[in-house]
Amino acid sequence: MEQERFTLLKTNAEVQSRIREMAAEISRDYAGIPEENPLLVLCTLRGAVFFSADLIRGLTVPCEINFLKVQSYAGTRPAGSPIFELGERIDVRGRDVLVVEDIVDTGQTMDTVMRNFSDKGAKSIRIATMLDKPSRRYAHLKETVIPDYIGFSIPDLFVVGWGLDYNEEYRMLPDIMVYHPDAE
Ligand code: PRP
Repeated sequence: MEQERFTLLKTNAEVQSRIREMAAEISRDYAGIPEENPLLVLCTLRGAVFFSADLIRGLTVPCEINFLKVQSYAGTRPAGSPIFELGERIDVRGRDVLVVEDIVDTGQTMDTVMRNFSDKGAKSIRIATMLDKPSRRYAHLKETVIPDYIGFSIPDLFVVGWGLDYNEEYRMLPDIMVYHPDAE
């Protein structure tokens, strides 16, 4: 049987609905955070821009927004340790930080980010991710890289859409799709 190149994983409506729930949960957890030291929401470029745009608009607590760039992937395979390109100049000392990711896979990107911000004196660091692939987590990160807010926990599938790419393509697909690169 011929394999489709894309198969549906989550519809746009399912993703949007889950994001609303996550935003409500995050807003409850940070209720009372002071205007003078708002939640610092850090969107990881580039995949998380779609997710974070909707998530942030659903928050009802004071927040400030900034961006990180952490590069780790080439094609479908991890390509060595992540490089922290942007984020060095963000002052996280004494701040409650919420890092927003599109997907947590091996965990090395979030490990790098959390270590860096912890070293710099962040008051708290939490992770909100649209997708989590716990089965792919590096063994040494299983206990330490556990996202606090997870949209959907998924099996080891290669997914595109909603900001996720395959060699820079398909980020803008409105649904989350499983991509089968070898299919005709
Ligand atoms: C992807 C994704 C995460 C990271 C997760 O980023 O956005 O940041 O990989 O993988 P890990 O848990 O194995 O570290 P990518 O480097 O593909 O950059 P992009 O967001 O610009 O596509």
